Amino acid sequence: MARFVVAIDGGAGSGKSTTAKGVAERLGFFYLDTGAMYRAFTLKCLRSGHKTHQKTDLQMIRRLLDTTSVDLRQEDGGIKVYLDNEDVSLAIRKPEVSGFVSQVSAIPEVREWMVAKQRQIAEGKHVVCEGRDIGTVVFPDAQVKIFMKADVHVRAARRLKELGEKNMEADESEVLENIKFRDRYDSERTHSPLKKARDAVVLDTTDLTIEEEINRVKAIVEERLRT
Ligand code: DC
Repeated sequence: MARFVVAIDGGAGSGKSTTAKGVAERLGFFYLDTGAMYRAFTLKCLRSGHKTHQKTDLQMIRRLLDTTSVDLRQEDGGIKVYLDNEDVSLAIRKPEVSGFVSQVSAIPEVREWMVAKQRQIAEGKHVVCEGRDIGTVVFPDAQVKIFMKADVHVRAARRLKELGEKNMEADESEVLENIKFRDRYDSERTHSPLKKARDAVVLDTTDLTIEEEINRVKAIVEERLRT
C-alpha cells in the first residue's frame, strides 16, 4: 500500500505532468508518471515490429509483456524512464510512440501488467501519480483526487512547446490531431477509460499558469494532510 496518494487524471496536455512533478518536488513525494510507462512498452512494441493493433499483433504483444521491464528512477533531479534497463526518457516522446500508445494501452493484459507495476512502485511511499485511470482504478482510495482539463488548443500549444524544449520537431496540426485522437480513444475504450472519479476535484487549467496549477493542487493536498 502506498502511504499517501495524490491521484491526478486528465487528457493529454491538460497540465498533469507539470503539476504532478511540481507538487511532488515541493512536498517531497515520489512522482509516478504512468503515461511514461505505457509509452515505454509501446516503444518496445514498435521496436519489435508491431505497428498495428490487428488481432495477430495483439497475441504477440501479450507475449512481449513477459520479457519486459519498465522502471521509473529518480536521477539527476528528475525522473528517468527505463525500458529493459535502457534510458528511454527521450525516445518515448517521439510522434511514432504518441501515435500508437493509445491502441497499446487499450489492451486489457497491458493494463493489468501496468497497474500491478504501478502499485508495486508506489509501495510504502507518498506519491503523486498521474494518468488516466489513477483515481478510478489504480488508487481508488487515494486521499486526494484531481481531474484536470483544458481547452484543446491550449493543450496542443503546451505539447508543442514541450517538444520544442526537447529539440524534437513537431507539426502543430499533427500534435492537435493526436491529442484529439487520444482523448477519444482513451475515453471510449472498454477497460479503465479516461473518466473523472466521482470524488475528484475538477481543475480547469486553460487560464492558469504552471505556478497557479501547482499551488492549487498543493493547497488541496496540504489541507487533506492536516485532517
Ligand atoms: O500521459 P501521456 O500523454 O504520456 O500518456 C500516453 C498514453 O498512455 C495515453 O494517451 C493513454 C495511455 N495511458 C493510459 O491508458 N493510462 C494511464 N494511466 C496513463 C496513460
